[in-house]
Amino acid sequence: MDEGRRRVVVTGEGPILVYGPVDVEMPDGTRRLSDRAVTALCACGRSRHRPFCDTSHRRRVRDKKEEDGS
Ligand code: FES
Repeated sequence: MDEGRRRVVVTGEGPILVYGPVDVEMPDGTRRLSDRAVTALCACGRSRHRPFCDTSHRRRVRDKKEEDGS
C-alpha cells in the first residue's frame, strides 16, 4: 500500500471516514480543519455541523424503525 495515500471509508448509511488530518473546502470557499486521527464527514446531508458528521444519520434510522414497529 502507498504510504502517501489517505484511507477513505464510505460507510453504508453513515459518514465518510477519512484517516488523518483533513482540510475541507466548503462551497463558499471557507475551510474547515480537523486534526483527528479519523474524521467523519457527513454523507447524509442531515448534520448541523457540516461538513462533519454529528450522528444525525443515526437518529433518523432509529426513528424510522420505531415508526415501523421494530
Ligand atoms: S452522515 Fe452522520 S450526520 Fe450525516
